[in-house]
Parts: sequence; structure tokens; C-alpha cells
Amino acid sequence: MIRILNVNKVDGSKGELCLLSEEDSYEIDGQGLLMLPAFIDPHVHFRIPGASHKEDWITGSYAALLGGVTTVFDMPNNTPNCTTLSAFKEKEVLIQKQLDQGGIPLRFHLYFGATKDNLKEIPKVKDHVIAIKVFMGSSTGDLLVDDDKTLEAIFKMAKDLDLLVALHAEDEKIISKNKLIYQNETDPSIHSKIRNREAAKAAVTKAIELTSKYGTRTSILHLSTEDEISLVKQAKKQGLPVFAEATPHHLFLTQESYKKFGNKVKVNPPLREDKDQEALWKGIQEGVIDYIGTDHAPHTLSEKSLNYKEAPAGIPSIELLLPLLLTAVDQGKIDLETLVKLTRTNIEKIFRLKEQTDFILVDLASSKKFKDEELKTKCQWSPYSDQMLKGRVAYVFIQNKLFHMDKLALCPS
Ligand code: DOR
Ligand code: ZN
Repeated sequence: MIRILNVNKVDGSKGELCLLSEEDSYEIDGQGLLMLPAFIDPHVHFRIPGASHKEDWITGSYAALLGGVTTVFDMPNNTPNCTTLSAFKEKEVLIQKQLDQGGIPLRFHLYFGATKDNLKEIPKVKDHVIAIKVFMGSSTGDLLVDDDKTLEAIFKMAKDLDLLVALHAEDEKIISKNKLIYQNETDPSIHSKIRNREAAKAAVTKAIELTSKYGTRTSILHLSTEDEISLVKQAKKQGLPVFAEATPHHLFLTQESYKKFGNKVKVNPPLREDKDQEALWKGIQEGVIDYIGTDHAPHTLSEKSLNYKEAPAGIPSIELLLPLLLTAVDQGKIDLETLVKLTRTNIEKIFRLKEQTDFILVDLASSKKFKDEELKTKCQWSPYSDQMLKGRVAYVFIQNKLFHMDKLALCPS
């Protein structure tokens, strides 16, 4: 039996935790520790198969635990893409092997990528996937569905099979047109002009139209603009089954960040203006934003140091998720109850997950500037390094095992 005494709870009370354990018998003084339901990160790119130089599930699971996350949903833009039943099964096996090797029993679910010619695969994976991912605009990798006929067929099939469709909603035609207009520009900030707010607005408008036409359960990923928030708010008012995600980079960074970070903060959809960031925080307060997904998308520093056109888009963030969010709590942007909804309970409901009891114990007194070199994510950098952040994950209880984060060392791969 492991006993944890004097733990602080979200409702302000204090309590004692008893964890059944056959091997261990000890007590932990929980003074100054806050117990939170462990986070679910419903949007990660852990890069397996095909790009293990950026991340794998050994480094990824370690980074996840440090960020307070015990469940992740991984995206399908791999090499090969996760777009057939066999690719899906092979990916599952690879992941489980790496998790067994690393020793962290991270819970995971996988998205299935839709393409213009893999619709027949969708019924085959129906009982295995967390949702169907559709890239309405191209991003990292080559997954893209930019024609209305296929989009309609996907929405219809997903409704018939009772699957949720998760959307990267940027309009490919608008992006392509802007790429031509700005083809000679080299400053990373051009990214926000190429992938402008019109591109996001047009794609979200279409997504909502299709949701309304077919009744499909839909989640719009990484909302970045005021305009999209208004559209989703309106759709929810009409009772449509539309959900919305926000990422840490759209909540904590803006276009100003290009000056300091250049291509490191090149990301799809791109960073926006202050007014958009404010609208996202308001969207959280009003319940328009249902959940936070990190869109943890690691790329190496050498890849990010290429010129604007060649540098890949994506920002890693899972490892600092908890300190970022506790800093927001400290600044009065959200309260702890809202944090729990955004990182756990809303996600469980939307994705119909089985209940589980994973929790984290957080050292509230910690204020820390994280350093790139200490990060466990394989790419070893973060735009949130060297900033004073609140809170630190001290213990993680995952799948009935308690991990003491200060003592955690991964089994070598
Ligand atoms: O910036 C992004 N990076 N957006 C995406 O949609 C994909 C991601 C990646 O996989 O690198
Ligand atoms: Zn993503």
C-alpha cells in the first residue's frame, strides 16, 4: 500500500490517497502537492513510423508524463501514412514495442487518415480508431482531401459508422494562390499571410456546412482566429455536433514570436494576432473551445534552421503543457475546474473514452525556467524554454503504477 497524505484537491479540500500495491509499502507527504486528473492530449505527432529522428514513443512517453499527460491520440501523417488497415495495425505494434522498451505504459489511440482513395478502408478500421483525420489543407506530409466530392463522402460515411471527423481546416486553394503571390518572400512571418485567416474561415465554413448536411460529429482542430470562434459558436447555438480544439501555441504565442524564433514557430495553421489570442481565451470561458490538444509536432533544430520554404511546420509542446497551463491559472486566465474540463473530462466525453483513474500530483510551489538541454522530447527545444513557468509534475499515477518523476529514468532503447 502507498499512502499519500495531505494532498490538495481541485475543490480546495485536502485528502489522503491510498494506492494498492503488492510490491511497495511507503508514505509520501503530499504537503504542497495538488492532485489533478491526468491529462489526455488528443493531438500529437510522435513520428512513428518514418521519422524517428524527430521523436519516438520512448522519448515521447517520457515527455508526455513530464507534461502531465497519460493518454495521447497520435496523428496519421507518417511514412507510410496511417491510411490502411494494415498500416494501422503495423503502427500499433511498433508503438507497443517502443512503449514496452521504454517502460512507460502510456495510453494511446490512433487517428486514421482519410485520402481521396481510401474510403473503403474506413469501415475496416471503424472499431479500432479514435477518429478520422482529414487534412482539408496540406500540411506536414502528403495527406490532403481538397475536393468536395470526397469530403462529402467522408462525412456521410463517418455519420453512418458513427465516427468522429477531426479536421485540419485550412482551404488549399487559398493557400496555393497566396504561395504564388508571396513566392519571393523569405521572412518566416510571411507564413501567416500565406495561410491567412480567410483560408481558415473558408474551410471551417465548409466543415460546418457538411456537419449540418450529414449530422456527422466533427471536431475542428487548432482554432486560431476570432472568425473561426464566431463560426463555431454559431454552429453550437444551432445544436450542431461541432467541437473545437485550441493549441498551446495559439494560446501563448502570436505573430510577434517570429521576431524571436523565426522558422521555429512556423506552424500550420500559423500564429495570429493578439485579438485572435484574446478570442481564444474568451472562447474557452464561453465553452466554444472544448479542449486543448498540444499538436506536439517535433522537428529537429537543423530542420528548423533551413530557409523559410524548406523549414518544416510544427512546434513541440507536450512536455511543458502542465507548467504552461498552471501559469495561465496563476495569471487568472482560467481556473482549475476549467483546466480539468479542457484537458480531461471534455475529451473523455467527446471521444467516448472509458473512464480511468490516472492522476498527477503537481508541485504548485515550483517556478522554473526550463532549458532546452533538459527536455526529454527528442528534438530538445521549445519556444517556452527560458521563461518562468509555474508548477511541475512530481508524481504520475498511470495504469495503476506510480511514477516519481525525479527518479524516472527510461530503460535504454
Ligand atoms: O504545423 C504542423 N505540423 N501542422 C500540422 O498539421 C502537422 C504538423 C506536423 O506533423 O509537423
Ligand atoms: Zn497536428
